[in-house]
Order: sequence, then C-alpha cells, then structure tokens
Amino acid sequence: MIALTGATGFIGKNLINKLKGKKIKCLIRRYNENLGKKNIIPVMGDITNKTSAEMFLKGAKILIHLAAVIDSNNRKDYYSVNVEGTKNLVDACKKNKVKRIIFVSSMASTKDYLDDYGRSKKIAEDIVKRSGLNYTILRPSLVYGENSNSMRKMVSLIDSFKFIPIVGNGEYKINPVHVNDVVSAILSSIESKKSIGKAYDILGKSEITFNEFVDMVSAKYNIHKRKVHIPIQLCLAVSSIGSILGPHFPLKKSFVLSLNSRYKGEISQARSDLNYHPIEFKEGLNR
Ligand SMILES: NC(=O)c1ccc[n+]([C@@H]2O[C@H](COP(=O)([O-])OP(=O)(O)OC[C@H]3O[C@@H](n4cnc5c(N)ncnc54)[C@H](OP(=O)(O)O)[C@@H]3O)[C@@H](O)[C@H]2O)c1
Repeated sequence: MIALTGATGFIGKNLINKLKGKKIKCLIRRYNENLGKKNIIPVMGDITNKTSAEMFLKGAKILIHLAAVIDSNNRKDYYSVNVEGTKNLVDACKKNKVKRIIFVSSMASTKDYLDDYGRSKKIAEDIVKRSGLNYTILRPSLVYGENSNSMRKMVSLIDSFKFIPIVGNGEYKINPVHVNDVVSAILSSIESKKSIGKAYDILGKSEITFNEFVDMVSAKYNIHKRKVHIPIQLCLAVSSIGSILGPHFPLKKSFVLSLNSRYKGEISQARSDLNYHPIEFKEGLNR
C-alpha cells in the first residue's frame, strides 16, 4: 500500500488521478470529492503530530511525501510543517518498517539565496538523506497546470493592476514544469531502483525569461497590459517599509532576493533514470 501526504493539494490531486488501481492511504486535514474513489483510504491527521504520523504509516510499503507549506505569512509554519513534519514522518517510517520514501522537495532549496521556504525544504532534504531509508528526492521548479494556485494568483495579481509590475529587468530565467511531468517523475520513481539514494531536478523542457513567461500568460488569458520594470533596489526599499506594516504586506524582501538568485538545475539525470521528458511551457500552457 502507498501512503501519500498532501493528497488534497495541487500535485496530490493530479497524482491520485494517475494512481488508479493502487491502494493509497492519504493523510488529510480536510476531505474532498477526489478522495471518494474506491482505492483511496483517507485518514484524518496532521504531519506535525507524531502520533498521527505513526498511525498513518501502519501497513504502508512506500511513502510519497508531498505535504508542505509553500506560502505563509508566519515563517514558523515553514519549519513546523516542512521540517518537523518531515522528521515525524521519517521517524514513523522507521517505527513501521516502511523502507521507501519519495520526497517532493523544491528547486527553491538549491538557490544561493534561501528564503524560509527554500531553507525549510533544504533542511527537510537533509533529514531524508540522513534517515537510512531508501529515498528518492524530486525537486520541481514552479509547477503549473490546470487548477494551479500559483498561476491563479499570478493572473489575479496581473488583473488587479493597471500595468504589470515586474521586479527588476525581468530577464532572469525560470523553467516552469507542467504538473503532469511532475506526476510522471513521481510514478517513475516508484518503479525505479536506480533512483534510490538520489535527488533529481524536475524542470520544464527549456528555460524562459520572466518577461517571456508574463507575455505568454498574458496572451493565454487575454490580458493586454503594459509591463513596467521596477528597479530591484526600489522593490527592496518598498518591501522593507512594507515589513514594518506587518507580515501581510504582499511584496516581501525574501521574494525579491530569491527572484534575483538563480538555481542551477539540470534534467539529464532524471531523463536517464526516470525516462523524464518534459514539455515546453508554451505547449503546457495551452493544453
Ligand atoms: N506548486 C509548486 O509550484 C511547487 C513547486 C516546487 C515544489 N513543490 C512541492 O510539491 C509539494 C506539493 O505542492 P502543491 O503545489 O501540491 O502544494 P499545495 O497545493 O499547497 O498543497 C499542500 C498540501 O499539503 C497539505 N498539508 C499542509 N500542511 C499539512 C499538515 N500540517 N499536515 C498534513 N497535510 C498538510 C495540504 O493539506 P490541506 O489541503 O489540508 O491544506 C495540501 O494537501 C510540496 O512539497 C511543495 O513544496 C510545489
């Protein structure tokens, strides 16, 4: 039996749809219609609770760990869920003799500048690597696809302004990955012995600049607005002033700094071990 955390999230929902015919036990905090399928066993719980992690992993053969806090105004959440939650699950795996774990981390953990999210994922990776379990770590970049929260947020942000504000010159590179490609990497990892003890960058087919990204998203959603590039120093000053107003201020210093800090990823290892062949952003966006 497969144990899955994060089943109610964006990637989890897409993964469940592809795991037909396999028994999956899902640790959840809330129920949704996707969990009503015959092969799904929902278990209410929370990964920050040691007892619920232990109960959840009873009888499992493999853990796919997706649950995480991606965006929070309270920096402590990143550490309690992403770090402590992962530690609870690793300990629970050992207690229940679950030997295999597939941990979905993030490219944010590989940047030169680590924000709280990236740092928490990096610490969680280290916990998994030192666990003695047969691990595979997957590090997606920005994941998009139908019902993607990040894409929805970006479109509504663009919609709320008269122009499209862009931090800096927008020429920094990103490499978004379609959710189906992430799901296929997870499915291959389940089957692949080669992937044990390894970490893979899970990116799209090619890099694009942030300007190109905004242009393609605008074209897709019929948004006809001018891009306005705001100097990084000005963004940093605004975010510093904003931080005095409280954690809800939308432009965070860590966001500005992390945008400007490149990650160094490559997919050749995933291509050979996981038969990973992702699509271009343009193709995925118009699916
Ligand atoms: N989306 C991206 O662009 C992206 C990029 C790189 C890496 N990743 C990684 O991929 C994984 C899945 O991301 P996603 O986009 O699917 O995230 P998501 O849509 O935000 O879903 C997060 C999931 O984690 C669950 N969760 C959060 N805290 C929990 C807790 N204390 N106990 C139990 N469950 C908890 C949530 O449950 P509730 O429904 O109850 O809140 C939800 O199912 C994460 O590890 C993330 O770091 C995502």
